[in-house]
Amino acid sequence: MGFDAVDVICRKRDRGELSTAQIDWVIDAYTRGDVADEQMSALAMAILLNGMDRREIADWTQAMIRTGERMDWSGLDRPTADKHSTGGVGDKITLPLAPLVAACGAYVPQLSGRGLGHTGGTLDKLESIPGWRASLSNEEMLGVLRAAGAVVCAAGAGLAPADKKLYALRDVTGTVESIPLIASSIMSKKIAEGTGSLVLDVKVGSGAFMKNVADARELARTMVALGTDAGVRTVALLTAMDRPLGRKIGNALEVEESVEVLAGGGPSDVVELTVRLAREMLAAAGVSGKDPEEALKDGSAMDAWRRMITAQGGDPDALLPRAAESMTLTAPASGVLSRLDAYAVGVAAWRLGAGRARKEDPVSFGAGVTLHAKPGDLIREGQALLTLHTDETARFTRALEALENGYAVTPAGDPNLLPLVIDRIEA
Ligand code: URA
Repeated sequence: MGFDAVDVICRKRDRGELSTAQIDWVIDAYTRGDVADEQMSALAMAILLNGMDRREIADWTQAMIRTGERMDWSGLDRPTADKHSTGGVGDKITLPLAPLVAACGAYVPQLSGRGLGHTGGTLDKLESIPGWRASLSNEEMLGVLRAAGAVVCAAGAGLAPADKKLYALRDVTGTVESIPLIASSIMSKKIAEGTGSLVLDVKVGSGAFMKNVADARELARTMVALGTDAGVRTVALLTAMDRPLGRKIGNALEVEESVEVLAGGGPSDVVELTVRLAREMLAAAGVSGKDPEEALKDGSAMDAWRRMITAQGGDPDALLPRAAESMTLTAPASGVLSRLDAYAVGVAAWRLGAGRARKEDPVSFGAGVTLHAKPGDLIREGQALLTLHTDETARFTRALEALENGYAVTPAGDPNLLPLVIDRIEA
């Protein structure tokens, strides 16, 4: 049945509920080009302002899934589990997590994205490994899964094409920050990906989409309900993104830190979150094999990483790219590092070249920020706090501007941090 796009827009503008048939029609017609970009952007703005209820969000998600293919891993001999993070600064957790969960007995088929703005993208990070290939056919994906137990690659054009088109439109029309639109966008791709279970890492704080716990909780509840209704065992953790995760921010730098974790070392926050998410994924998948801490210690997670990288053309032993130039910032006085803001560090890394401003821009693999101290650490005057890395010295000025109010050393003081894991949400 056909509808008039203006009627659908006006209904949501006037705070009405969209019917299942209206939602199915508008998503399909937009994907085919029969609803124009300006009409869809008006509807997206009406949704951002007036919201959608649970039934509308579920219908919207299912309609986006139906515009493309749905992957099926039911032929595999072990359960599948995936994780999705809403994105943050220094969030490289997928890199150690996917091989770790594989080493503990579940398959991890992860379709991932590139970074835009101040948060990095998993594919950009992995592409800093010489030879590694993000684009795989479905057959190649299955081959990597069988060889390594985990695969991380780019979503093909056939997966939720409505979301690809709509996300690009939202990006340029001020309609990204809508919980129904974010939840349906993320979950349409994850449900279409075909994973049996899913753990959502919903970040909270200055470096995240969701700046406060209440909004993050609502987003998490919405996504858990969508996954559960679609037959995917879904749980969510709310985790801290008021400060950066780990000590290295930037593409190759984050690969380096991930390998430290897989070798049994690495910063405690990255290790703790990786192990916690791995346990959640294994529990959701119903797999009770090796404990993740053990798999980090005995080298089996590292073995799975090496197989995963090699199966996608990468050389796990190759030297990673390094930026040509660096600048270290030191403490002006002794005291406590009472502030190290995730957003400020994310923007600095982005301006140093680690991120992109437009989809088509290249990223610099070596660019980024290394942290020599974390919030709450005692600091001596003259001690190194952060090192900035870039290929072009001209980029230092704008990065320094981003950091101007982003960190502080004070004589005393509590950094007042969010707990690393704030809450757990299940259906
Ligand atoms: N990530 C997505 O995939 N979609 C959104 O809408 C926001 C973040």
